[in-house]
Amino acid sequence: MKIGIDKMAFASTDQYIELTELAEKRGVDPNKYTIGIGQDRQAVVPPTQDIVTLGAQAAQKLLTPENVRGLSTIIVATESGIDNSKASAIYVKHLLGLDDYVRTIELKEACYSGTAAIQFARGLVALNPQESVLVIAADIARYGLNTSGEVTQGAGAVAMLISANPHVLAIEATSVSYSRDVMDFWRPLYATEALVDGKYSTNVYIDFFKNTLTRYQQRTGRQLADFAGIVFHLPFTKMGKKALEAVLQDRTDDVANRLREQLTASQVYCRQVGNLYTGSLYLGLMSLLQNGQIKPGDRLGLFSYGSGAEGEFYSGIVQSDFAKNLSDVDHDLAERHQVSVPEYERLFNSQLGMQAADIQFDTQADNAPFVLAGQKNHQRIYQRR
Ligand code: HMG
Repeated sequence: MKIGIDKMAFASTDQYIELTELAEKRGVDPNKYTIGIGQDRQAVVPPTQDIVTLGAQAAQKLLTPENVRGLSTIIVATESGIDNSKASAIYVKHLLGLDDYVRTIELKEACYSGTAAIQFARGLVALNPQESVLVIAADIARYGLNTSGEVTQGAGAVAMLISANPHVLAIEATSVSYSRDVMDFWRPLYATEALVDGKYSTNVYIDFFKNTLTRYQQRTGRQLADFAGIVFHLPFTKMGKKALEAVLQDRTDDVANRLREQLTASQVYCRQVGNLYTGSLYLGLMSLLQNGQIKPGDRLGLFSYGSGAEGEFYSGIVQSDFAKNLSDVDHDLAERHQVSVPEYERLFNSQLGMQAADIQFDTQADNAPFVLAGQKNHQRIYQRR
């Protein structure tokens, strides 16, 4: 039985900054951001958006009444949790008005947990093929103003329906996961911004990619030529290039050039939004499917990486109706508006964060279908428009 991704939808905020403008304000050569890091724009998050509102927005785009009837479980994969006990999936389920007989849970392992959620969902669907699982990978990547990580921030959610006989990607049996206790990136319980050993993290990422790919090749006998494209977790677009070049080295044959071209197609949306943490690999997959030279029957490789650290390489076969089962990311990105760097800084500092006090946000400026209206008696108040 084929099991995999049946539908995919993306949501982010409706505002962004131009990274050339950020570079100018930070006294950095803009080419460092646009070429050295490989990012052009970055999503800006108002205090009225968080992983619950973004996740609900993405999920709302893909769920039809028929999908809702078959749904057994909602898994939110995130490292931007909004409560230390309660799963954000419960809030998402409530905002979407879904049946109470649905299991709701949250998963964490840095940027990797979206992949864990998909693999766990495969297991649930294998046990009950008539049921489906909604996986939502949602995050807000925050490093802090004036830090070296600032240019690699971003925000958004990718919602995916995992089912039998999927329409987008049938996941193949072999996957290789690999984990080691590594301090490359983490966020202590008292911090709203991540701590990171940036250069080290890029080296660990490449190391994990090579390890998991090699083991996958040993176990399957497949070579790079067997992939129409390889999709990477993209904390910034240059990271995917560094990892791919680490295995291609100086190859200039057709296979190597094809993988380079498809990598560029997978990076289009990340360049505009930034790091989604758990969702980045899957926004990369949507980007490749919408901008690359991909056809039904093609095999794609997927490399998932989460600091701390865990990596996984797996593969899937593109299904015939894939194009009709992806939300229109180009349209959503075209609808966004630019904000100035001072406005971004103001919004960055207006987040609810770890404040305990009651607070009411001005929700008028936010046109999203779901908003965080504030906090009362230590409870977050969400609204559905
Ligand atoms: P940095 O020190 O600001 O940058 O940190 P740099 O000095 O290394 O320069 C970056 C690149 O720009 C270099 O290219 C420079 O040569 C180039 P590279 O050698 O890497 O190919 N450059 C220029 N290019 C053109 N024109 C110029 C110019 N100047 C310099 N004028 C760093 C960069 C990515 C480390 C930093 O932004 C950071 O710490 N980011 C956050 C950490 C991160 O994203 N790590 C990625 C791997 S870990 C991961 O993916 C997991 C993660 O998503 C979290 C999770 O799992 O939850 C992060």
